[in-house]
Amino acid sequence: MAGEDGDSEGVIRRDRFSGGPARGFMSSLAADERIFEADLAVDRAHVVMLASQDIIESEVASEILAALDEVEAAGHDSLSGGEDVHEAIEAAVIDIVGPDGGKMHTARSRNDEVATCIRYRLREDVLSALDAALALRESLLETAAEHTETVMPGYTHLQPAQPTTVAHFLLSYERAVARDCARLMCAYERINQSPLGSAAFAGTPFDVNRELAADLLGFDRVMENSMDASATRDFLAETLSALTTHAVTLSGLAEDLVIFSNKGLVELSDDYSSTSSIMPQKKNPDTMELVRAVAGDAVGELTGLLTTLKGLPRAYNRDLQRAHKHAFRTVDDVGEAAAVAAGAVASAAWPEDELAAAAGDGFSTATGVADLLAMAGLPFRTAHEVVAEAAARSEGTPDVATLDAVATDVLGESLFTHVTAEAVEAALDPTESVASRDSVGGPAPAAVEATLSTARDELSDDAAAVADARDSLSAAAEGLDEEVSSYV
Ligand code: ARG
Repeated sequence: MAGEDGDSEGVIRRDRFSGGPARGFMSSLAADERIFEADLAVDRAHVVMLASQDIIESEVASEILAALDEVEAAGHDSLSGGEDVHEAIEAAVIDIVGPDGGKMHTARSRNDEVATCIRYRLREDVLSALDAALALRESLLETAAEHTETVMPGYTHLQPAQPTTVAHFLLSYERAVARDCARLMCAYERINQSPLGSAAFAGTPFDVNRELAADLLGFDRVMENSMDASATRDFLAETLSALTTHAVTLSGLAEDLVIFSNKGLVELSDDYSSTSSIMPQKKNPDTMELVRAVAGDAVGELTGLLTTLKGLPRAYNRDLQRAHKHAFRTVDDVGEAAAVAAGAVASAAWPEDELAAAAGDGFSTATGVADLLAMAGLPFRTAHEVVAEAAARSEGTPDVATLDAVATDVLGESLFTHVTAEAVEAALDPTESVASRDSVGGPAPAAVEATLSTARDELSDDAAAVADARDSLSAAAEGLDEEVSSYV
């Protein structure tokens, strides 16, 4: 659409800036495909605002808005020339409308324009990432609800530590993903503010109505300081930090599933596994390994973004053209990883017999026995010593007789002066051990049910908040369409 020197592109950039060996290096046109639709929306809202403020004539606004429809129908690939999508769309509009098309860029700069486009697009992307995170929470909750009584080993330092349940384990990740969602929703609030109308950084003498443009684009409010509004990319840093934290959560879940698969404690469905091209017996947890790796990429992107932003002076600097890709890449990757994790969790099988057998490995009930003795009045440190000595004298879990013999040596009196043999037997049993740990947030089925119910409430609140955010974006888009059609 845009052509060579002297035509619309020349009008915008002037010949001095139209070429040169660094042209390709400076151009972001290809990468800007991501914000093509956003730029059209921002152009439309800006033009409607200019006309409603009588800054441009309604007839000119009509022509420009009709031209934007043509540009949209032709698609991003039809754009040519220009350093970026903003310039290329403007050039295309001038080609269609003639010189009056140049009125579209009244009272703005590409600096406020691009910042608005990034925010406009990123909102949608963050809502999609939130959808995936919500689906993961749902699949963790549903699976947990089926396994409140399924006893499994719990680990610290990757050593058997204390028995717990599959539900308690899965909820530990659901709670973390819930916080990841909260961080993303906080970031969303700060993404959803409008820099449009800040112009290059120093405002404009035109009587712009920034609130109107913000409303038409579905932003919650305008950003107050025009230098901040056009230059800041802290919303990218915040969003990308939240996404990276989420990726780290996902990587932990993925790693646990890899390890549990290796121990035969979980079986991923075939849909989420892969086989070896040479070893016919293999079933590998490849999807979880890839989810684990996404966190590495996210950390790299966050580092790239922060390093680019560090030390940038006010106001706009072209470095910023390379900032938003980090957030866009990560939001795609992390959303996809969460969706895959949701599917893997929903379809995995938890073999109850193997889990129960492994739950008592490595004398994992030792703490429970020490707790029992302490509850009977022994100082916990003394109880710990008795149980530690019994562990040292046995292969695996000591029996009641061994514990009694050690107590007699250490305390100078029988174990049964403090507790009954039945109580000790119960403490040595992984299922009883789990049932006894009913403190708030503990693994006992009743405690887990309480967490499940809180978690379900929070999930439905968060799902409603995401739906509200999406509704208000759709309502704004419809409103903008109506405004536009009153001109075209
Ligand atoms: N493509 C540019 C970017 O992404 C648009 C802003 C250009 N502004 C300027 N003053 N050169 O940042």
